[in-house]
Amino acid sequence: MTERYVRIGGWGKYLPERIMPNSELAELVDTSDEWIRSRTGIRERRIAAPDETTCTLSVRAAQAALERAQVRPEDLDLIIVATCTPDYASMPATASLVQHALGASHAGAFDLNAVCSGFLYGLATGSQFILSGVHKSVLVIGADVFTRILDWQDRSTCVLFGDGAGAVVLQPSQQPGGLLSFVLGSDGAGACSLYVPAGGSRMPASAETVAERAHYVKMQGRDVFRFATRVVPESVVQALEQAGLTTADVDLFIPHQANTRIIDATARRLKLAPSVVFSNVERYGNTSAASIPVALCEAIDAQRVQVGSTVVLSGFGAGLSWGTAVWKWQEP
Ligand code: ACO
Repeated sequence: MTERYVRIGGWGKYLPERIMPNSELAELVDTSDEWIRSRTGIRERRIAAPDETTCTLSVRAAQAALERAQVRPEDLDLIIVATCTPDYASMPATASLVQHALGASHAGAFDLNAVCSGFLYGLATGSQFILSGVHKSVLVIGADVFTRILDWQDRSTCVLFGDGAGAVVLQPSQQPGGLLSFVLGSDGAGACSLYVPAGGSRMPASAETVAERAHYVKMQGRDVFRFATRVVPESVVQALEQAGLTTADVDLFIPHQANTRIIDATARRLKLAPSVVFSNVERYGNTSAASIPVALCEAIDAQRVQVGSTVVLSGFGAGLSWGTAVWKWQEP
C-alpha cells in the first residue's frame, strides 16, 4: 500500500477592513500607544463591521483557500471551524453556517474550541481524516471575532485582541513530507487564568451576569505570559524530536501572534535566529484562532516558505491549552 501524507493545498485569510490604531484605544481607556507597543508590540488591530461575524469572516478566508487549492465547495468532505466566538452561543455550529454559505453540499461540519490553540487542534484533527484515507479535501478554518467578547472598559485585555480568519485546505499526497508531527496539550488547572465567566452552563446568562459584565473576557495576564513562555518552547522541542529534527532544522517558526515579548522570549529559549521567526502581531494584535493561519498565509505570500522548508506552527491559549505542528512544506 502506498504511504499517505497530508499537505496544505490551499490557504486564505480575511481581515476586516476597519483598522483601530492604539491611539483610538487611548480615547476609550487609560492607556497609551507607548504602553501598548512596549508591552505587546501591537500598533493596530482589525475590527469586524457590525454585519460581520465569525461565519462571514470564515467564508471569505475559505473561499480564498478553496480557489488557491482549486477545490470546488461541493467537493469538500469536511469543514472544521476552530473558534471561541461562534455566531451563536451554543447552537448551531458556525461550521454548519459556513458549509451552507460556501455551498459545500457534501461536507460534514463541526466547530472545535481550543481558543487560541484551536487552529493547531483543527490541523491535527483534519489531518487524521486525510491520513486515514477517509477524506480527500478537508477545510480547516481558524476564525474569531474576539472584539465582541472584550470588555472595552478593561485596559488589561481590550488592547490585546483583534478580529480575523484564516483557512487551509488539507489534501492527500504521495510525496513524503507534509505534516511530520504534532503535539497537543492542555492544563485545565489554569482555566480561570483566561476565561469568560458567564453564558455557559456554569453561570447561565441573567440580568445579573450582564450587569456584572461577566460575559466578557477576564485574564490574569502575567500567569498567561509565564505559561506561554514555558509551554511553547517545550512543545516545539517535543514535536521536533518526534519528527527526528532539532531547532537547527527549522526554516520558519510561526508562533501564535499574541505578544512580541512572548514571541521573542520563546525564540530566545529555542535559540532561533530572528530571521526564522515570523511575526505580524504589530498589525493585527491577537486574533485568537485566526492568528496562525493568517500568519502562515502572509509568510507564504512573502515567499518565506519554500518547497522543502521545515515550518513549525505553535499556539497557546485559554484552557490553558497549546499545540505545535511540524510541516515539511510540499508543492501545493
Ligand atoms: N495601559 C496602561 N497600563 C496598563 C494596561 C494598559 N493597556 N494594562 C495594564 N496596565 C497596567 C496594570 O494595571 C499595571 O499597573 P499597576 O502596576 O499599577 O498595577 C501595570 O500596567 C503592569 O501590569 P502587568 O499586567 O504586570 O503588565 P505586563 O508587563 O505583565 O503586561 C500583558 C501585561 C501585556 C497583558 C502581559 O502580561 C501579557 O502579554 N500576557 C499574556 C497575555 C496573552 O497573550 N493572552 C492571550 C492568550 S491567547 C488566548 O487564548 C486568547
